Amino acid sequence: MSTQTLEATVDPDLVNKWIDEIGSGVPAAVPLLQAIQGEYGYLPRDAMDLVIANSDINASQLFGVATFYAQFRMRPVGRHLIKVCHGTACHVRGADRLNTSINHILNITDDEEDTASNGSYTVEDVACVGCCSIAPALVIDDAIIGNLTGADAQRALKKHARGAKEDLPGDEAAKKKKKASAEETSSEEARP
Ligand code: FES
Repeated sequence: MSTQTLEATVDPDLVNKWIDEIGSGVPAAVPLLQAIQGEYGYLPRDAMDLVIANSDINASQLFGVATFYAQFRMRPVGRHLIKVCHGTACHVRGADRLNTSINHILNITDDEEDTASNGSYTVEDVACVGCCSIAPALVIDDAIIGNLTGADAQRALKKHARGAKEDLPGDEAAKKKKKASAEETSSEEARP
């Protein structure tokens, strides 16, 4: 998939207002990036370019700060966030299986991607979320769900998607495949 379609439209007036209010020197880099990410959920390239053009912070300083801190994201984020816990307890009890099941149902097949093609969900690996007794666990938006098998994780995601009225690209693809295969079988059976 391409995350290109998920790119935010940056409002230059807003970015310039932040530069005026927060500052235009290197010490303002972190709060400026926080303001941008607070608005767009990640750091759009257009917003970064505006900061570089209209402040005293050069490209290597700004990108240096943006890539140094784990809090900053360079890629668009989905409408909902799934955090898969990879703390020790969850890792030992099968956190990788949760990633595989979740990615499958979201049709995320490229290791470089973490967001479903329709912008519905982003999947992140995180450190311990503080409920090791129910490992392996994940968090969908603010809801912690634990004691999960891969199938449980898919069920939890489907339930969340129904409530949030989101489509799951992998689920749709599986349904289409199943339908096509059923049609193929019935047309073969109908042959004389
Ligand atoms: S290791 Fe996953 S909740 Fe603690």
